[in-house]
Amino acid sequence: MANITMIGTGYVGLVSGACLADFGHDVTCVDIDKNRIAALRRGEIPIYEPGLKDVVVKNVEGERLQFTTDLAPAVRGAEVVFIAVGTPPQEDGGTDLSFVFAAARDIAKHLEGYTVVVQKSTAPVGTAREIGHVIAAEKPKNAECDIVANPEFLREGSAVGDFMRPDRVIVGAETERARQLMKQVYRPLYLLETPIVWTSLESAEMIKYASNSYLAAKISFINEMAHICELLGANVDDVASGMGLDGRIGKKFLHAGIGYGGSCLPKDVASLIHVARERGYDAPVISAAHAVNRDLPGRAIEKLMRTTGELNAKTIALLGLAFKPNTDDLREAPALRVVHELLKAGARVKVFDPVAMDNFRKQVKAPVEYAKNAYDAANGADAVVLVTEWNEFRELDFDRLKAVMRGKVFIDCRNVYSPARVEGEGFVYDSFGRGKPR
Ligand SMILES: NC(=O)c1ccc[n+]([C@@H]2O[C@H](COP(=O)([O-])OP(=O)(O)OC[C@H]3O[C@@H](n4cnc5c(N)ncnc54)[C@H](O)[C@@H]3O)[C@@H](O)[C@H]2O)c1
Repeated sequence: MANITMIGTGYVGLVSGACLADFGHDVTCVDIDKNRIAALRRGEIPIYEPGLKDVVVKNVEGERLQFTTDLAPAVRGAEVVFIAVGTPPQEDGGTDLSFVFAAARDIAKHLEGYTVVVQKSTAPVGTAREIGHVIAAEKPKNAECDIVANPEFLREGSAVGDFMRPDRVIVGAETERARQLMKQVYRPLYLLETPIVWTSLESAEMIKYASNSYLAAKISFINEMAHICELLGANVDDVASGMGLDGRIGKKFLHAGIGYGGSCLPKDVASLIHVARERGYDAPVISAAHAVNRDLPGRAIEKLMRTTGELNAKTIALLGLAFKPNTDDLREAPALRVVHELLKAGARVKVFDPVAMDNFRKQVKAPVEYAKNAYDAANGADAVVLVTEWNEFRELDFDRLKAVMRGKVFIDCRNVYSPARVEGEGFVYDSFGRGKPR
């Protein structure tokens, strides 16, 4: 058992803190957001993440997990302090590290004895070492500290399972003492024979960026194939199935559609391009992946215009706002661009998302109409656009849709349905990469 402090209670900090408590550690989660900590203390979970509430409640009741805004005692009592604050993107693709360094300075002042400070936020290569310099300059003279880089790979929507049963754990640690403590932190995963990869600080940080860039490139690759399939009359879903059976390629991340979003892939790819360019290298593969992805919401609008005509004064129903199912996160969600373009074109926009509408209301403040369910959104619509493949949109009642809609266009941005099925229901249907033989 170790005494752990987690700085930041967002998607990563809260899930990591709760799961580490579940591993048997004593965990204190710290946030500067007073409302968030007050909510957590009342037993309310400020984000939508399946299964998280149960883990939090169980470990609070077991007295292994607590929440505070008071960083000083939390750091003083800790053997391991994780930094899991946000690293948002800047306009130029660079990374805003102000939260990370503010946290590092706060931690430094309160260190006592020996502490391992773990950089878990995704930050450009070199950040962990820089945190080490900042802490060395600002810590009390008699305090000792080692820095570790331990990037996080959990996915929103399945974060608890991902943290508890990861494919691998990456630990950049450069002293034996730090390695021993990190082994203790991840001991339950050791017992499950999870591969733990020990590296330098820089390699650990780079593994995170390289992994996300690879995934982004794989998605953009299949989306480029989808575009070519449309031009040549092939079906990208069949192409992906055939490709995916090749053991060197694999089936995952070969799903064509409106592209990736979220708080990680777009930002991390942009950041890696940015740091490479700062050093005079254009990173052509990931730059192209980024560019292909950026164009995809525009392609959805083109499909809509091809099937619906001019969008001015048309009513468009959007099913799904979150960047993917099972999360309320809207960061870089393709729906944001789609809504923006529709409103710019003069369309009336009705939206429905099972969990992300509150965040949309607060964060986007766009003049859209919020519906009670998919059919309420479709009521009076000229076209329905399925943007996020929530389960409840996978089995829509097309008779009911037809009965309430004004038009009969259905744009499926996630290739959820087969064209024959929806066309058979009397709709004008379009999706991504399912060209028709000519
Ligand atoms: N969200 C994901 O799926 C995911 C996955 C892997 C890695 N990451 C990375 O993890 C990091 C955190 O991401 P997130 O999505 O959890 O962010 P988030 O924005 O959801 O949460 C960050 C939290 O940190 C708090 N915070 C900021 N400064 C603080 C300080 N000085 N002291 C205490 N709390 C502070 C904020 O109030 C907020 O609650 C980022 O670097 C991100 O790239 C995210």
